[in-house]
Amino acid sequence: MKVAVLGAAGGIGQALSLLLKTQLPAGSELSLYDVAPVVPGVAVDLSHIPTDVKVAGFGRDDLNGALTGADIVLIPAGMPRKPGMDRADLFNVNAGIIKVLAEGIAASCPKALVGVITNPVNGTVPIVAEVFKKAGTYDAARLFGITTLDVIRSEAFVAELKGLDVATVKVPVIGGHSGTTILPLLSQVEGATFSEEEVATLTPRIQNAGTEVVEAKAGGGSATLSMGAAAARFCMSLVKGLQGEDVVDYAYVEGKGEDAPFFAQQVRLGVNGVSEILSYGELSAFEQKAKEDMLATLKKDIKEGVDFMAS
Ligand code: LMR
Repeated sequence: MKVAVLGAAGGIGQALSLLLKTQLPAGSELSLYDVAPVVPGVAVDLSHIPTDVKVAGFGRDDLNGALTGADIVLIPAGMPRKPGMDRADLFNVNAGIIKVLAEGIAASCPKALVGVITNPVNGTVPIVAEVFKKAGTYDAARLFGITTLDVIRSEAFVAELKGLDVATVKVPVIGGHSGTTILPLLSQVEGATFSEEEVATLTPRIQNAGTEVVEAKAGGGSATLSMGAAAARFCMSLVKGLQGEDVVDYAYVEGKGEDAPFFAQQVRLGVNGVSEILSYGELSAFEQKAKEDMLATLKKDIKEGVDFMAS
């Protein structure tokens, strides 16, 4: 198993790479790419951790070296938010970064499973899809926006509110990865019920959790540690799928287009990425309205990505 992390020297990249160094199956390779000159040092640092995962660092001019032979590529590269910014404010700077990296993937490892973390995920995933289409390598089953952070936050907040063992809490989160497009389905949480007031408080808390971190870091960036943990968890789901295990997880994927061209929902994973897109089932009246209200925003975010590539 070869996993490449693009943007490996940043806050998310380092946390993610650390977790992968300790969690990937024995015999795996971890390939760290970054334009920051510290990346060989990050690779040496990680290589001193005694696990059977080989680590190599690749600098600005060796994207091809980092990507060749990769089974999975994870992309945390890009600019984080500052207080007062929305994820959409990152589009102009991060769109160009993700485009270049996607072109590298299309050229060097077109069959890899690709997980995008770079914000705004609602728009950067469509950019990657358009790059791959242009290169003739697009396979919707192999491209994912990583929305696991919304899932793990929901698990943490629900467990805290309801006094539950967090290891047993499962919260479906659908839609996108920004503001109201993040839609936790609290009506479907097993073993817990929520009053109308709890739903009305907890839903926006989950939707604004990224902003909670941005404000608490007071200009020092956005979530890196929880995002690293979330991306590592999703990567391990991809790994298990590639190893032939039956695994389901949430991700932002191009699906049947019933709600929007890209939509976060539960998917079954296999040796070729998504093997099945699973229905999110019945929504409560609150969730149905929240979904209808946010679809215009999600579609606009997606269109921004597609238009960027068309222009
Ligand atoms: C998050 O959800 O924490 C990330 O998408 C980073 C951000 O800007 O909120």
